[in-house]
Amino acid sequence: MPHHIPVMPEIVSRYLAVKPGGVYADLTTGLGGHSRLIAEQLAAGGRLISRDRDAESLEIAKTNLGDRRERITFEKGEFSTLRQSLDQLGIEALDGILADCGVSFYQLTDAERGFSIMRPGPLDMRQDRSRELTAAMIVNFYSEREIAGIILRYGEERRAERVSRAIVRARPIHTTDRLATIVAGVLPRTSSIHPATRVFQALRIAVNGELDELEELMRVFPRCLKPGGRIVTISFHSLEDRIIKTAFQQLAKSGRATVLTKHVERPSEQEISGNPASRPAKLRALEMKP
Ligand SMILES: C[S@@+](CC[C@H](N)C(=O)[O-])C[C@H]1O[C@@H](n2cnc3c(N)ncnc32)[C@H](O)[C@@H]1O
Repeated sequence: MPHHIPVMPEIVSRYLAVKPGGVYADLTTGLGGHSRLIAEQLAAGGRLISRDRDAESLEIAKTNLGDRRERITFEKGEFSTLRQSLDQLGIEALDGILADCGVSFYQLTDAERGFSIMRPGPLDMRQDRSRELTAAMIVNFYSEREIAGIILRYGEERRAERVSRAIVRARPIHTTDRLATIVAGVLPRTSSIHPATRVFQALRIAVNGELDELEELMRVFPRCLKPGGRIVTISFHSLEDRIIKTAFQQLAKSGRATVLTKHVERPSEQEISGNPASRPAKLRALEMKP
């Protein structure tokens, strides 16, 4: 079974400060790296709800965490359904929430899922494969203006119109490598990063409604935490980080919570050299007032 190296494990543990008898939710279980970290700190009365919207990742996580199953409830679900899910499970409030946003290494490296520029695959990019909207539908059926809007807003790509025009002219486009080639044809390579990286990010964010989901989480999490309960977030691009930072600041300003990370926490150079994918990670933590 594939595993995943959890990002910033010590810092996550320090801010989540797991109580052995507490109730926790890992909203982004992936293959279960952070869930294991939390589950290993639980004892009698302790419980972990391990959620993800990707059913396939959850299945692997169940196997990976087989030895900890007695304290873990696995559940397929999105950020936005957290409150309903707690109600259904009969949980009034949590001691802690972890959200390690974005795409998992597993999703990125499985060519079939269509997230990777480097691996030829179908233009899919859905984290929840029971949903209808795929990257291929956006690329082949949205208008040139809509596509340019997505690339500009979610990819922060200045030359969005040029890219969108090239995409529309080349339709139909069915595979990740074809899209990457078309984009590379109109964007000069300015660094070692592939020129289509921002376009792929933009499509992924649009397909999965990532920013809307995160905004919804920022609205609901205060109603899911006990007084003194904590949330720890890890984000991988500035659009996500801005949403979290603003929401945390507003809650602190209203006197309902304390921001625990005065400055954003980042992985150490040592961690980055062992796991280069962790480089952009930014961790923030907040505690509800007792
Ligand atoms: C970076 S990975 C998490 C890796 C995990 N922490 C580990 O240690 O293995 C992010 C995961 O969150 C899931 N995810 C992202 N946004 C989500 C959302 N809005 N609702 C539910 N799951 C989401 C993805 O499907 C993916 O599996």
